Amino acid sequence: MEYIKLSNGVKMPTLGYGVFLVSPDECERCVSDALSVGYRLIDTAQAYQNEEGVGNAWRKSGIKREDLFLVTKVWISNAGEEKAAKSIDESLRKLQTDYIDLLLIHQAYGDVFGTWRAMEKAYRAGKVRAIGVSNFQAGRFFDFAHYVELKPMVNQLQCNTLIQQTDIEPIHAEFGTKMMAWGPLGGQGVDGIVKSEALTAIGAKYGKSAAQVALRWLTQRGVVAIPKSSHKERMAQNFDIFDFTLSDDEMAQIAQLNQHDTGIINFGDPQFVKYLIQNYG
Ligand SMILES: NC(=O)c1ccc[n+]([C@@H]2O[C@H](COP(=O)([O-])OP(=O)(O)OC[C@H]3O[C@@H](n4cnc5c(N)ncnc54)[C@H](OP(=O)(O)O)[C@@H]3O)[C@@H](O)[C@H]2O)c1
Repeated sequence: MEYIKLSNGVKMPTLGYGVFLVSPDECERCVSDALSVGYRLIDTAQAYQNEEGVGNAWRKSGIKREDLFLVTKVWISNAGEEKAAKSIDESLRKLQTDYIDLLLIHQAYGDVFGTWRAMEKAYRAGKVRAIGVSNFQAGRFFDFAHYVELKPMVNQLQCNTLIQQTDIEPIHAEFGTKMMAWGPLGGQGVDGIVKSEALTAIGAKYGKSAAQVALRWLTQRGVVAIPKSSHKERMAQNFDIFDFTLSDDEMAQIAQLNQHDTGIINFGDPQFVKYLIQNYG
């Protein structure tokens, strides 16, 4: 495993396992498989409703707590200082742990500053080792990071070979923020990356699949990737990316595959904001 160092010195694996759209019943089995394959970073969220499955799988694994890196996210309906504080305690209870390694604001809506104050308090109380945000696009991220006291250590964004998020990189750098990629293989049910001819051709040289090349490209950029699969053999394939290195030329070729600098979801689109808040807020 390779690691990056967050701005507060916390060491974070560059590859993890994500459990979005993994049902609460299935989650324990999937995370147990992922841990047995070797993953030590697990990415969940209050909104995924499967934090208990993550906690159960870890408890049964026998893996020491200090060897695990747990990531969860505060959902919009828990925004605001008081509600966020309660929700953090609830996440700790469900995850069956007394600290979260990385806690993120899931979406940039509602009282995010109140949520952040609760997260800063949890951080100072030792309930959380690092704090960050998710889905904060460049302008929103700058505004937020400028005004908060503790700067976000991570921004989790949709990022992959087709959506490279290059525009936000210099803004992250100003605040010492690391990027974490959701949808690193293109997302659920999308096969443009895992079947990419360009990535398949590059992978052939190393005996690797297009998916492995896509993940390696992210980690070589210093971006943390958290692919999801419900299949153990794919979990193992996605984990097996540290025994080859893409050349500078191959990194540059993959950079040419970019189709969207800033992601395909426009988080500032009023229709999207309305939909999310009315249905899930
Ligand atoms: N912060 C946010 O708002 C946000 C949003 C979305 C996701 N996330 C996080 O990011 C994680 C990953 O994103 P994601 O789940 O959307 O998408 P993803 O990891 O890019 O893609 C998952 C899809 O790829 C398939 N797959 C996995 N490995 C494969 C392989 N080696 N070959 C072919 N197909 C493969 C999976 O199918 P099978 O399961 O059938 O193998 C699944 O359909 C999530 O689980 C979650 O933790 C965060």
